[in-house]
Amino acid sequence: MIKFDIITIFPELVKAFSQESLLKKAQEKKLLKIGVHNLRDWAQDRHKKVDDKPFGGGLGMVFKIEPLYRAVQSLKTNRLNGGPPTRRKTKIILFTPRGKKFTQQKAEELIKNKHLIFLCGRYEGIDERVAKHIANEELSIGDYVLMGGEIPAMAVIETMARLIPGVVGKPSFLRERRLGAKKGQKQGFLEYPQYTRPETFSPKRGVAWEVPKVLLSGDHKKIEEWKQKRGKVIEK
Ligand code: ADE
Repeated sequence: MIKFDIITIFPELVKAFSQESLLKKAQEKKLLKIGVHNLRDWAQDRHKKVDDKPFGGGLGMVFKIEPLYRAVQSLKTNRLNGGPPTRRKTKIILFTPRGKKFTQQKAEELIKNKHLIFLCGRYEGIDERVAKHIANEELSIGDYVLMGGEIPAMAVIETMARLIPGVVGKPSFLRERRLGAKKGQKQGFLEYPQYTRPETFSPKRGVAWEVPKVLLSGDHKKIEEWKQKRGKVIEK
């Protein structure tokens, strides 16, 4: 079973997400586990301070290294059945806009890990020593700047969770399976437009909006060709 530990200063935000229907069910079925941790629990001073002014000046605040270091140390240690603490093999990921781009292929690669710790930054940044000495990898979910790493962490968990058999219903529901079955074919899945009833929708004004006739034809070969033509391949 894969375990995700998320370290954040907004644990309620991530907890709400982790208790959402499919992820909640997946945890009940013991297909995965999501632990949400408040970084402030590892702050040392009585004000629970986790950030400070940047050396050399500059605007904003920077996350301090000590609380993050202690959080990671304690989450890496695993006590099995009350036995002695053991170190587990853990991948530590820091979310930053400058990180390597997270893709479907990256999700496939990360799912091979048993334990992942996600570090969510906030404010202006994180002490660079966290990226250099604590994190194994820096990931970005796109070329834009968010206010923190919580949304990236949730996006990565959701993408990875879908890949675990049993999380989103039957394995055949996974669109990933639809391409690359044959040797030499591109690995990935085809994202094509989908329609459901009614066949004709009449807006208040103007002509009716129809479902493409080919999809109603029952001609599987033609339908397959249409899907290939209209679809976009999301590569793995
Ligand atoms: N933190 C802020 N923006 C981010 C992004 N685009 N990806 C990952 N982490 C971030």
